[in-house]
Amino acid sequence: REFDLVVRGGTVVTAAQTMDCDVGIVDGKVAALMAGLPPGRAEVDATGRLVLPGGVEAHCHIEQKSSFGLMTSDDFYSATVSAAFGGNTTVLPFAAQHRGQSLLEVVEDYERRAGEKAVIDYSYHLIVSDPTEAVLNDELPALIRRGLTSFKVYTTYDLLKLDDYQILEVLAVARREGALVMVHAENHEMIRWLTERLLARGHVAPRYHGIGHSRLAEGEATSRVISLSELLDVPLLVVHVSCRHATEAIRDAQTRGLRIYGETCPQYLFLTLEDLDRAGMDGAMYCCSPPPRDAESQAAIWNGLQNGTFQVFSSDHAPYAFDETAKLAAGPDAPFHKIANGLPGIELRMPLLFSEGVRKGRIDLQRFVELTSTNAARLYGLFPRKGTIAIGGDADLAIWEPEKRVEVQWELLHDRVGYTPYAGRQLTGWPTTVVNRGRVVVDGGRLLAERGSGRFVPRGSSSFARPRGVALRELDETRNFGAALLD
Ligand code: URP
Ligand code: ZN
Ligand code: ZN
Ligand code: ZN
Repeated sequence: REFDLVVRGGTVVTAAQTMDCDVGIVDGKVAALMAGLPPGRAEVDATGRLVLPGGVEAHCHIEQKSSFGLMTSDDFYSATVSAAFGGNTTVLPFAAQHRGQSLLEVVEDYERRAGEKAVIDYSYHLIVSDPTEAVLNDELPALIRRGLTSFKVYTTYDLLKLDDYQILEVLAVARREGALVMVHAENHEMIRWLTERLLARGHVAPRYHGIGHSRLAEGEATSRVISLSELLDVPLLVVHVSCRHATEAIRDAQTRGLRIYGETCPQYLFLTLEDLDRAGMDGAMYCCSPPPRDAESQAAIWNGLQNGTFQVFSSDHAPYAFDETAKLAAGPDAPFHKIANGLPGIELRMPLLFSEGVRKGRIDLQRFVELTSTNAARLYGLFPRKGTIAIGGDADLAIWEPEKRVEVQWELLHDRVGYTPYAGRQLTGWPTTVVNRGRVVVDGGRLLAERGSGRFVPRGSSSFARPRGVALRELDETRNFGAALLD
């Protein structure tokens, strides 16, 4: 049978290997990987380019109300268009429960909005902020069965935070039902105490956001949630890790054999507290949590990407325009604790890591593919349908021009945020053609996909989310009661 599309003459790179071959696509799936394929009904010339698995953006906030109740500046159309131009073929934004809401209704609402707007494939992680009996016993199990096999919990933000008991309850559901819990780990009381002190002394400028969200707060909460995970023998993923303490806590847990995973983001490699200290209110453009740290932290994060401590590199795209609709909603001189948290980055996530990581010799191409696509697909139950280039899998490809030079300017991007934290940077390497389920969605700077043409992808439960089957010694000493206690 004739191929619908042949991607010809490129160098195909997966997490496992590199090969010079064509990619033959039928019905949105990879049907052949071989040099010299016969002509397809359509062709993409990939000569001199790298054919990589499409990016799986595993952490982004799209059309979501923030912990401050503020809507993001991107909707499912602009965010997925921007993602596609940055080489992504799947996004995993959050469906966020606010207190009092039914999670089932939350998901229906996201489904409606994403379904009519997304241009690439998507699923959601659930944010659980109100773990009622109904949520724990009925809604979460039902949603996991519908293919939403991951959820995020917070240790901070007044409107989102769970206490340790509640986190244990959520972890227990994840253990029983086969889901992976992601944690935003920062010690709420340390941040609250520092914030009160800073404000009382009149320190209100954006840079004090970075002081209030101390590295110790992140380190403490990271160690604590690792203990909660160990107590229940259930895997856990710490998101957006920014500093050495947290990285070392994760590394140590992994060395002890625990199934603790870690994610980091571009802002922790390329920005520092100095960026929050820019003139006037410009620092507000760099306020996110955890905040960008310093050169020592950046080095620790690079090291964690190189040595395998981090499995996933995500954008944490949380787009808020720098105006009174978003970042400055609390006024032109808003004190730091009233500035929406979050940075845009969905389009630049992979080009930044490609240029600074691969091109500068810090990581190789295989590791790049793992960090930006394969590992997220594995951890979140999308593999091998997504996250690689394999016969029978979805034809999700990002075709990169490794020598293309780009000076970053917001005007080149496709989000609605109005600024980029990375303006002026010189990058080498860019994904110039992007294919999702065999559809060319981006080519040569043009968008070819229609609004609403992305598809919801139900996810399985990942083997990485399984308990180790090792009950804590003292639980076992209750005469083999350990397992029963946890189940
Ligand atoms: O500052 C951030 N990261 N905002 C987005 C919400 C979150 O915590 O992921
Ligand atoms: Zn977070
Ligand atoms: Zn630290
Ligand atoms: Zn986030």
